[in-house]
Amino acid sequence: CGIVGYVGSERADGRKHTALNVILEGLRRLEYRGYDSAGVAVIADGEVEYRKKAGKLSNLVGELEEHPLPTSNIGIGHTRWATHGGPSDVNAHPHVVDGGKLAMIHNGIIENFSEIKRELSTQGESFVSETDTEVAAVLLARTYDAQPTDQKDLTVAMQDTCRRLEGAFTLLAVHADVPDRVVAARRNSPLVIGLGEGENFLGSDVSGFIDYTRRAVEMGQDQIVTITADDYTIVDFHGSPAEGKPFDIEWDAAAAEKDGYPSFMEKEIHDQPAAVGDTLLGRLDENGSLTLDEIKIDEAVLRSIDKIVVIACGTAAYAGQVARYAIEHWCRIPTEVELAHEFRYRDPIVNEKTLVVAVSQSGETMDTLMAVRHAQEQGAKVVAICNTNGSTIPREADAVLYTHAGPEIAVASTKAFLAQITAAYLLGLYLAQLRGNKYKDEIASLLTELEAMPAKIQRVLDEVEPQVKELASGMKDAGSVLFLGRHVGFPVAMEGALKLKEIAYIHAEGFAAGELKHGPIALIDQGQPVIVIVPSPNGRDSLHAKVVSNIQEIRARGAETIVIAEEGDEAVREFANHVLHVPAAPTLLQPLLATVPLQIFACELAGAKGYDVDQPRNLAKSVTVE
Ligand code: G6P
Repeated sequence: CGIVGYVGSERADGRKHTALNVILEGLRRLEYRGYDSAGVAVIADGEVEYRKKAGKLSNLVGELEEHPLPTSNIGIGHTRWATHGGPSDVNAHPHVVDGGKLAMIHNGIIENFSEIKRELSTQGESFVSETDTEVAAVLLARTYDAQPTDQKDLTVAMQDTCRRLEGAFTLLAVHADVPDRVVAARRNSPLVIGLGEGENFLGSDVSGFIDYTRRAVEMGQDQIVTITADDYTIVDFHGSPAEGKPFDIEWDAAAAEKDGYPSFMEKEIHDQPAAVGDTLLGRLDENGSLTLDEIKIDEAVLRSIDKIVVIACGTAAYAGQVARYAIEHWCRIPTEVELAHEFRYRDPIVNEKTLVVAVSQSGETMDTLMAVRHAQEQGAKVVAICNTNGSTIPREADAVLYTHAGPEIAVASTKAFLAQITAAYLLGLYLAQLRGNKYKDEIASLLTELEAMPAKIQRVLDEVEPQVKELASGMKDAGSVLFLGRHVGFPVAMEGALKLKEIAYIHAEGFAAGELKHGPIALIDQGQPVIVIVPSPNGRDSLHAKVVSNIQEIRARGAETIVIAEEGDEAVREFANHVLHVPAAPTLLQPLLATVPLQIFACELAGAKGYDVDQPRNLAKSVTVE
């Protein structure tokens, strides 16, 4: 879910904006976090007023046009990804309780809500929604009301409430009695503070207030912040003072805009040369050696590592799978890749000699965060590869390597994927360098090749994009698309299939080309579209020849083959219905090129089918529940 809070007065430059403007702008930017419903509450003339609506933010905006809210300088807003209770008006946030005096919004899951609900029901409380949030709101209201009249303090009531709650939550509350403040709590769920002049902000991430300030403050776990127009105060759940960590926001607001593209996804696909280039920036010293200043783990510890485990979810996990081929090859350290939610509950063998690499665009994915904590409890060191400054996973990890892809808004990940592969490669090369690896020359030449990738990605965009679009326009009615790849092409195939499922709602599967004959080939019949990622003919181990044989096998059974191959590779032409040529690159770097046509393909098909490319049904960009 996306969360915004605001308390303001007059801005330093004299421009006045209302709480509602700030909150709606913030929600617009945070809508990628969930779009099952949206709502806002403000305090005006000592009364809490609110509007909420199922569906996307535009529904709420429509509602506000029909039933405007009074002008106010304090409020909270929410855009929801449903967990407890389906997406309906009544389950939408804010939840307003206590005779309309208290409004609350929430991200996360309160695990013991049924128990508290039962208890409150016995005490005569009734509930209108099915949400865990309403239970927390009622509990907060009762706690506040129970305070002696001369000692009323919403922040203290929030502390008492939070100590009763189990699970993960960010809670924001406003109360009609104290119309100058928003009180917010967090446990295992994101929340950042934004500092303005005569106004302060809260957001699930900095995009919630990126239009208004560059100054932000990170909070720790189990903390509560109270913001007023001029101040903020952080305490823990027991009321002891706590300190936040100030930081400057580097993203500019324009980077979070569409730049004239019809969708964020299309824009982000086009950001990829810069995303890879920026991720490489400043990592090489004058001798061509890699320097990763951010890796603050003792070099002796890194030298003693005997196993690497990459943990991630979704697209980030496929980036990890690509990276495994490279890291294992360069470092000669056994490397596993595992979905974070499976890793966490498997009782994995992890110890002080294990390096865990957690890959996450948002840095907030709960499954990945829990896996990080589990690994650390077993003594492992954790390096995060992350795109979001100040988010939870890099903060809890022992070290972080930031991808510099800029804000990724479209739910389906594109530029973060390429940047994650790039960063994971840098990490692999760095470890190899540190361990005095025998592939020295290969590493040096790979670094040069890596630096050439942004220009090559740009060529894919310039030359291949029009061909992919044309191809996609003829495939609107495909019921299923298969993807095949070998070696690093295998995770690329799975990522291509994931993109198609996510945004075009087309059944798609990625297979290891070698596995075809062991089962999946039974799926092939007349006209079945199959996209094949063909390795470089100049790569090692006759990979190329093997994949070309696979193409022949499926062609012989009627498949319509769309082949992504290296420029100059004419051997594939005779077996392919369509060939898309991408620039030549070493096998390990080919994913940075071969993925791009697959992203364009999915984006184009989804658009052609009339779907919302940026906000596909049922999904959210950052899933902060387990
Ligand atoms: C969600 C998104 C995916 C993303 C995954 C991991 O499921 O819909 O696009 O790949 O989370 O997100 P992360 O922020 O950890 O990379």
